[in-house]
Amino acid sequence: MREKIIVALDVDTENEAMRLVESLANYTGAFKVGLQLYNNTGPGIIKKIVDAGAKVFLDLKFHDIPNTAARAAEAVVGLGSFMFNVHASGGINMMKAVVQASHARAEKAGFLPPLLIGVTVLTSMSEQELHDEVGASRSMQEQVVHLASLCQKAGLDGVVASAREIPWIRRACGESFLIVTPGIRPAWAATDDQTRIVTPKDALSAGADYLVIGRPLTAAADPGDAARRLLAEIEEESA
Ligand code: C5P
Repeated sequence: MREKIIVALDVDTENEAMRLVESLANYTGAFKVGLQLYNNTGPGIIKKIVDAGAKVFLDLKFHDIPNTAARAAEAVVGLGSFMFNVHASGGINMMKAVVQASHARAEKAGFLPPLLIGVTVLTSMSEQELHDEVGASRSMQEQVVHLASLCQKAGLDGVVASAREIPWIRRACGESFLIVTPGIRPAWAATDDQTRIVTPKDALSAGADYLVIGRPLTAAADPGDAARRLLAEIEEESA
């Protein structure tokens, strides 16, 4: 079960990040490095975490012309993360170029390519914003399913999605398509600024493959203890 937990390292410094890696590595499957930590510390943070024996999900959400996104993907493969992501709204040509570049670079280096995950519609976006600002004419559900299917057609391994979107995506993309789910709150944790939250149990029973969890673990007085409680909650509930 612990392999399914990805801890969001939303901190500014290498010291804070490495302290969390040290306290949580035994209880979780991987660590997510996003724009905050990456831009504060630089790409070297990935090697640091990997050298400490942990896996990294590099959450930089590429969205650019196919050539630029593909060259960036080649650089990511060299950094050693096991998973990274792109915005599906960059289009199928961009996604295919990223898949191709990542696979070619990994093959040349002699290892498996990192998993490539698509962001469909950000969960922070409302249906109203999707229509009025982005100009989409589909409903939220149709747009999420449309983009998830596009990710699959491009050869991506899965998508990031809120737990409530899982049934639609499973129906469209099948069981082996990965679904990475943020917005997770154990029963005992504060909701913080997340509104559409689900418990780890609900996300897993809805079919999530990975749970991205940040503050319930990283802001706890004792992160290791919080992780043990989280695992106990999941194991108890799934027993
Ligand atoms: O602290 P918390 O558990 O809310 O952190 C969730 C993490 O997942 C953050 O790094 C956030 O950026 C990320 N995320 C999210 N919702 C999305 C996509 C990513 O909360 N739709």
